Amino acid sequence: MARAPVQDGRDPYRHLYLPFIRVEQFHGKARSILPRDVYGYFSSGATDEKSLKENQEAFGRLLLRWRCLRGVANVDLSTTVQGTSVSSPICVAPTAMQRTAHPDGEVAMGKSCAYSNTLMTLSTWATSSIEEVSDKAGGTSPRWFQLYVLKDRRITQRLVERAEKSGYKAIVLTIDLPRTGIRYADKRSGFKLPSHLVLANFLGLEEFATENDKRFATLSDFADSLFDISISWENLDWLKSITKLPIIAKGVMNAEDANEALRRGVSGIWVSNHGARQLDSTAATIEVLPEVVHAVNDRVEVYVDGGVRNGGDVLKALALGARAVFVGRPALWGLACNGEAGVSQVLELLNKELELSMALCGCPSVLDVPESIVVPAARYRSTL
Ligand code: GLV
Repeated sequence: MARAPVQDGRDPYRHLYLPFIRVEQFHGKARSILPRDVYGYFSSGATDEKSLKENQEAFGRLLLRWRCLRGVANVDLSTTVQGTSVSSPICVAPTAMQRTAHPDGEVAMGKSCAYSNTLMTLSTWATSSIEEVSDKAGGTSPRWFQLYVLKDRRITQRLVERAEKSGYKAIVLTIDLPRTGIRYADKRSGFKLPSHLVLANFLGLEEFATENDKRFATLSDFADSLFDISISWENLDWLKSITKLPIIAKGVMNAEDANEALRRGVSGIWVSNHGARQLDSTAATIEVLPEVVHAVNDRVEVYVDGGVRNGGDVLKALALGARAVFVGRPALWGLACNGEAGVSQVLELLNKELELSMALCGCPSVLDVPESIVVPAARYRSTL
């Protein structure tokens, strides 16, 4: 069943809600309250940020064509991801170091997702550990763990085992970060983790102690020194051999990689350009989605993130074949503005917009959104 619209007095967060009616307002407030370097880290894209804009603008180049009289008294947002029930196809993407955005960080994110019964993906670079999030966030909604393969395979393996032991339901292998992209904001500010925070998943790991003590000069120094930049498709075979959890390949941007990932036995394909933070002038993810969906041809679920800012964007992605749509920055802006309640309100706003867009497009269920409701704007322009 769809998550019921919030009833007065029944939503534990409601009295904390901000007077905001759209996600972008959370972004504006986050910009004004976060320290400059933190805001710069989260908001920036690679170099000139063309792809950052493109991810959002590409949604605007797709138009919705509604269908009428389809009986939309009940619009059902509920679905499953990797066989687990969630209240909505709007799920939370991994973003690093969330306690820089709000003191409650990943635990608050986890609690809100649990309350909304949606999926949260925890970053390797989290400032609350795998165990802390699963212990404190509770709930029955699924959590996935996002993984970077480190040079030290023992640490990598231990992260996977800890996620498995703590009840995470999938490993999201990020395949698009052999190195970090150039982000001018970080270069200007020299952003690094504040001294009162730690990369919690690495605490207590002997092999990591030296690096952690150095508190790495910048994030890219950290990634470049610890990540395995020689990682190739063969490493997926290794990952599969050490876990029973389904593996999702995140960062797929073309049919070729989707096919290779499938050949290696992944259980899901996540179309992403890493929030446009890696390489500028990459295509918008929503424009790449149809090629990947076509290649995957229903063999596994396909997900997408990048540039989603309202429920209409989500509907377009569903129509183009995404099983679930992940939001990174929107959830993070909610967290920055108002902790747990902020994330909850952002998810609520997006879900309500999705529900309304579905009703207006004649789609009673997210499990049956026809591709025909989306058309490229250019098609109409050329006939005007
Ligand atoms: C981490 O994944 C980043 O993009 O900074």
